[in-house]
Amino acid sequence: MTATLQSCRQGGVFLLAMALIAIVAPAVASAQDDEAPNYSRKGADTCFQCHDDQTVLGVFRTKHAVPSDPNSPFGHGQLQCEACHGPGGDHSGRVRRGKERPPMVRFGSDSGTPVAEQNAYCTNCHLTSIGFAWHGSAHDINTVACADCHDSHVERDPVLSTATQADVCFDCHQQQRTQSMKPYAHPIRQGKMDCSGCHNTHGETTDGLLARATLNDTCYDCHAENRGPYLWEHAPVAEDCGNCHDPHGSNYPGMLSLRAPTLCQSCHSQSGHPSLPQDERGLPSATPSQYLLGQSCLNCHDQVHGSNHPSGSKLMR
Ligand code: HEC
Ligand code: HEC
Ligand code: HEC
Ligand code: HEC
Ligand code: HEC
Ligand code: HEC
Ligand code: HEC
Ligand code: HEC
Ligand code: HEC
Ligand code: HEC
Repeated sequence: MTATLQSCRQGGVFLLAMALIAIVAPAVASAQDDEAPNYSRKGADTCFQCHDDQTVLGVFRTKHAVPSDPNSPFGHGQLQCEACHGPGGDHSGRVRRGKERPPMVRFGSDSGTPVAEQNAYCTNCHLTSIGFAWHGSAHDINTVACADCHDSHVERDPVLSTATQADVCFDCHQQQRTQSMKPYAHPIRQGKMDCSGCHNTHGETTDGLLARATLNDTCYDCHAENRGPYLWEHAPVAEDCGNCHDPHGSNYPGMLSLRAPTLCQSCHSQSGHPSLPQDERGLPSATPSQYLLGQSCLNCHDQVHGSNHPSGSKLMR
């Protein structure tokens, strides 16, 4: 901490030098250019005169306060607090009675600072690290601010840790919160998996911000055993795992979107090969079987993802 503050002061001195030059020069320039950004004289040291609570100082425990990193806001020659909060010269000055203190850039989509403006301060440094797909992505066009997900004044940004990420997302995605609480779900509420396992939050060229080119490719990342290829494919599996599974959670074992046989019968005709539970009229007279009564299709067709058995065409072995 001491080390950081010290180097930060060195930065302050550097800024002071800059500011002195600025003070001499703009006296002439300001007349024609009112728009020239007015930075504070001593960088963070200026801000500390009025803002030194623990929340504010937390920024020095983050990766943003690395004086040895020339790209860090607190790197040599950088603008420190003002790299994010914008020029603070006017804000730091004395305020006349009855006047408002000129505001700084504030963060979060409900903060009053337009989202495009605040995000621009972040993308100034992060355009490449977040990827160019950000622009036009679901979050970008719905004016979600970087700071809606990222917390810049705490040592461990919750959205970057598996155990805490989902809670950040749940603030806005209530439906997924509800689903994650269902009895059969990916181990997200146990903190063992996060949304980033399947989603690339900053934007992807895929639908639904998925992490891989297709939905199935996304699942294969962790469920390689379901990739196949199979001798006998089950068409809906190769097409889209979402035909039968709800990856955010469901009330049915195996995270199925419906219970078998209803699930199977949403595609497979009941006539021809019926197995209406509890209804013997559904049994084909030629092949009566007690297993069809109230039993799931899976009792016989248990290779539902596909079969490699030479005689597995009916997905039974
Ligand atoms: C002379 C005192 C003073 C200095 C110096 C100062 N501020 Fe402020 N700042 C305030 C006050 C007072 C507020 C409360 C908002 C208001 O009343 O307008 C504020 C509000 C803010 C806010 C908005 C958050 C809030 O609580 O409303 C931010 C962000 C901020 N200041 C950042 C900075 C930064 C960065 C610097 C250094 C460049 C700085 N301030 C320098 C007095 C100061
Ligand atoms: C002056 C340049 C600069 C600005 C402005 C800036 N950052 Fe950074 N940011 C960095 C650097 C440098 C790192 C460290 C990169 C690394 O370690 O790989 C970083 C790291 C991060 C990280 C990763 C932190 C971690 O713990 O791994 C996040 C998230 C982040 N920035 C978000 C933001 C957001 C949100 C904003 C706007 C509020 C912002 N940054 C503004 C330069 C900047
Ligand atoms: C909807 C939530 C969300 C928004 C909005 C968002 N991020 Fe992120 N950001 C994340 C998540 C989640 C990660 C972790 C990525 C991962 O685990 O793959 C991340 C990671 C990062 C990192 C670290 C990248 C790395 O590889 O270390 C940076 C830097 C960053 N974000 C900057 C930004 C900036 C700048 C913006 C605004 C333009 C922004 N983020 C908007 C959720 C978000
Ligand atoms: C990397 C960008 C970044 C840097 C550098 C930074 N801040 Fe912030 N600041 C933020 C963000 C984002 C928030 C919104 C709250 C959060 O995400 O933690 C914020 C919030 C604040 C707030 C107000 C909290 C509120 O109630 O609205 C103050 C005051 C503040 N910062 C002052 C400072 C001061 C002083 C410095 C320099 C010592 C500084 N910040 C450096 C990004 C930054
Ligand atoms: C501040 C609110 C907010 C936060 C926080 C947030 N989102 Fe979103 N998200 C939205 C909005 C708004 C949309 C677009 C409308 C919609 O689809 O609901 C969206 C859309 C999405 C989509 C669908 C994209 C599409 O193309 O249909 C995914 C996936 C998503 N968010 C994931 C996440 C993840 C993962 C996190 C946490 C890392 C997160 N979001 C955090 C507001 C938010
Ligand atoms: C196991 C993979 C997986 C995980 C983990 C996951 N999602 Fe999804 N998510 C998906 C798939 C698949 C879709 C559907 C995409 C499509 O059909 O375009 C989706 C779609 C979405 C959508 C768009 C709306 C919708 O229902 O189609 C949102 C929002 C979303 N996810 C948010 C989240 C959030 C928030 C988390 C973390 C709590 C999360 N997801 C975790 C796989 C996952
Ligand atoms: C980041 C890794 C990861 C990704 C990506 C992933 N899963 Fe999973 N999946 C898991 C883990 C971990 C479990 C829990 C395994 C356990 O509990 O033993 C799981 C379990 C499951 C289960 C079994 C649930 C049960 O009750 O037995 C299904 C079904 C499933 N995943 C479907 C999917 C689908 C569909 C996708 C793609 C949309 C997907 N998964 C993507 C990690 C992942
Ligand atoms: C035609 C419907 C259907 C499709 C499509 C489907 N599954 Fe399944 N899946 C099932 C059924 C049925 C179960 C067994 C559930 C149970 O155990 O009760 C299952 C179980 C699972 C399990 C739990 C472990 C296991 O193998 O029993 C995983 C993991 C899984 N599926 C992943 C996937 C993946 C990945 C995809 C896409 C490649 C996919 N499923 C597509 C119907 C389907
Ligand atoms: C999303 C629609 C869909 C769902 C749900 C579905 N199937 Fe299928 N199934 C198909 C299609 C399409 C085929 C290929 C039919 C063909 O080639 O004539 C198929 C083929 C089969 C075959 C092989 C048929 C043959 O003639 O070789 C069996 C057995 C089968 N499914 C059983 C099941 C079972 C059991 C379930 C429930 C766990 C199920 N299916 C769920 C669409 C579905
Ligand atoms: C008692 C075991 C058993 C149960 C339970 C069962 N099947 Fe079958 N299924 C078979 C057999 C055996 C065949 C092969 C018939 C043949 O080769 O002529 C078959 C064939 C099929 C076929 C291929 C088309 C056809 O009619 O030959 C489909 C599709 C199918 N079953 C779907 C289902 C569905 C959906 C369920 C649940 C509603 C189900 N099965 C329940 C034994 C069963």
